[in-house]
Amino acid sequence: MTRIGIIGVGYWGPNLVRNFDSISDCEVSAICDLDPKNIKNIKGRYPHVNEYSDVDQMIENEQLDGVVIATPTATHFGLAKKALNAGLHAFVEKPLTVESSQSQELIDLAEEKGLVLFVGHIFLHSAPVLKLRELIASGELGEISYISCKRLNLGPVRTDVSSLYDLATHDISIVLHLLGQQPESVCCSGLDHLKDGIHDVVNLTMKFPNNKMGIVHCSWLDPRKERVLTVVGDKKMAIYDDLSQEKIKVYDKGVSMHSKSGEFADFQLSYHHGDMYSPWLQQKEPLRSECAEFVRCIVEGDTPRTDGVNGLAVVEVLEAANESLRLDGTPISIDSRIVA
Ligand SMILES: NC(=O)c1ccc[n+]([C@@H]2O[C@H](COP(=O)([O-])OP(=O)(O)OC[C@H]3O[C@@H](n4cnc5c(N)ncnc54)[C@H](O)[C@@H]3O)[C@@H](O)[C@H]2O)c1
Repeated sequence: MTRIGIIGVGYWGPNLVRNFDSISDCEVSAICDLDPKNIKNIKGRYPHVNEYSDVDQMIENEQLDGVVIATPTATHFGLAKKALNAGLHAFVEKPLTVESSQSQELIDLAEEKGLVLFVGHIFLHSAPVLKLRELIASGELGEISYISCKRLNLGPVRTDVSSLYDLATHDISIVLHLLGQQPESVCCSGLDHLKDGIHDVVNLTMKFPNNKMGIVHCSWLDPRKERVLTVVGDKKMAIYDDLSQEKIKVYDKGVSMHSKSGEFADFQLSYHHGDMYSPWLQQKEPLRSECAEFVRCIVEGDTPRTDGVNGLAVVEVLEAANESLRLDGTPISIDSRIVA
C-alpha cells in the first residue's frame, strides 16, 4: 500500500485527494492545510484521512511514502525540500519552482536520496497531447513549422503569480514535449491590469532551432473560454481543442511554393485542401493518469516523464520569459536542451 499525504487542499488539492483516493493499493493517509476552512470542506468526504495544519507534524506522525504539494508556487521549493529531506517521494504541482536554481537543487536532492521527484505537468499525461506527439513522431504532419496555443477565460484570477506562471506553464510544457527541445530564445509581453506586477495577459513567442516557433497567448481576462492548440506541419495540420467532443482534428491541408525553372519570377504557390479526420482517443481523466503514474514510479522505482529535469526545462523558459516581460518583450536567449 502506497501512503500519500496531500499538502494544500484549496482549489486544486481536493481533485488530487479524489484521484489518489480512487487508486487501488494507494491510500490518502493525511491532508494538511494552513486554512482550517479548507480542511473542513473536504474532511466530510474522507473521514478516514488524518488532518494537519503543520507539515512537520504530518511528516513526523504519519508513515508516508510520498507527499503531493498543491500549495502556491512560491512555497513549492521549501515544502518539496522538506519532504525529500525526510525521505519522501514528492509530487509537486506545476510549476516546479519559481527559480531554476531551486529546481536544480531539488533534482540533486532527489537523486542523492534515490527518491521520485514528479512535476504536475498534467497535459503530458493526457491522451490528446500523447496523440499529437505520436502524430508528429510518425511524420504524418511532416516538418513542423509552428505550434500556437490559446488558453483564455474570464478567471480564475490569481494574485500570487502571473498568468505566465499559472497558465502559460501548461502550454510551455506541451510545446517543449511536442518539439522535444527547449527554445533558443523567448520574447514575452503582457499587461498587468488588475494588480501591479501580476500580468493578467501574456503573449509569449518561443524560437526553436531549425526555424520552428511556439506561440502562447494566455489570459484570465477574456470573455470566452478557449483551450486551442494548433500544430502546423508541411504535410498536414492538427488542431487540439480541449473543449470539443472531438478533441483532435487532423487536416490534410497545406501550402507550398514551386518553381519549374528555379527562376524567382516562375515561383508559384499551390494550396492543398484534403480530408479531415478525428483520431480515436482513450477517454481517461488526465489527472487520474498523472496520479497513477506517480504511484507506479514509487512502486517500480521508475523515472517519470514529468520528472524534475522536465520541470526544470519549463522553469528555465518561464524564468527567461519573465525577464523578457520585465524588459517589455526584449528577446532573452536560452541554452537550448533536448527535452524528453
Ligand atoms: N494541474 C492543474 O491543472 C492545476 C490547476 C490549478 C492549480 N494547480 C496548481 O496547484 C497549486 C495550488 O493551486 P490552487 O489553485 O489550489 O491554490 P489555492 O490558493 O486555492 O490553494 C492552496 C492551498 O495551500 C494552502 N497552503 C499554503 N501554504 C501552505 C503550507 N505551508 N502548508 C499547508 N498548506 C498550505 C493554502 O491554505 C490553500 O488552501 C499551484 O501550484 C497551482 O499552480 C494546478
